Amino acid sequence: MADNRIIIAIDGFSSSGKSSMAKQLAKTIGYAYVDSGAMYRAVTLYAMRKGISTPDSLDEKALIDELSNIAISFRVDDATGRSRTVLNGEDVEDLIRTIEVSNQVSPVSAVAEVRRDLVKKQQAFGVEKGIVMDGRDIGTTVFPAAEMKVFVDASPEVRAKRRHLELQQKGQDVAYEDVYKNVCERDHIDSTRQESPLRKADDAYVLDNDNMTIEEQNQWLLDLYNKIVSSKA
Ligand code: DC
Repeated sequence: MADNRIIIAIDGFSSSGKSSMAKQLAKTIGYAYVDSGAMYRAVTLYAMRKGISTPDSLDEKALIDELSNIAISFRVDDATGRSRTVLNGEDVEDLIRTIEVSNQVSPVSAVAEVRRDLVKKQQAFGVEKGIVMDGRDIGTTVFPAAEMKVFVDASPEVRAKRRHLELQQKGQDVAYEDVYKNVCERDHIDSTRQESPLRKADDAYVLDNDNMTIEEQNQWLLDLYNKIVSSKA
């Protein structure tokens, strides 16, 4: 029923498994899913291609000037049913998941104008509710009135191991130490930046998933959703 639909905000540290959980929940309950991190990654890829972002520097002014030329959307892959990120008409889903983009995304996402621009776009996705969005500031800044907020936590070691495995499965040969370093650096930048730092919303439910299987996490999330929706009815 349309009026029962809510907004679900799932925030947490990088590689905490929040995207997989969010996607699964959206599929189970028939909601749209938006990966807000993919949007910051797409802006980063754009900036890298223009030479605005390099491993050692970011030209903030040039990036701000380019923002109006960056269009980000999502399309559903017919074969897999999965959402893929589109940057100015090009499918960049695989390109935005490389370690090079991961290494440059935090400085890009710390730029206030970038955040303002993407937050506006993210809020537009939620106008009709019935959406699961994951990120860092969804429950605090993008949808502070979301009916269901979850903050996913896990230790940096566990998250680096998961991310390393994921990259290996995609055929990307990266050392575990480099992945661990990237996870720690992103934690630091994401939670200490001035603009919308990563933090748990006061009314978010915390899920510490260090010792949980994927099935257990999915069930936990679904149970919470059912509880919240039935208490609204
Ligand atoms: O979820 P992810 O690791 O794909 O996100 C990539 C980066 O984007 C992350 O290091 C921080 C940034 N990000 C953000 O600042 N705010 C969000 N809502 C989502 C991601």
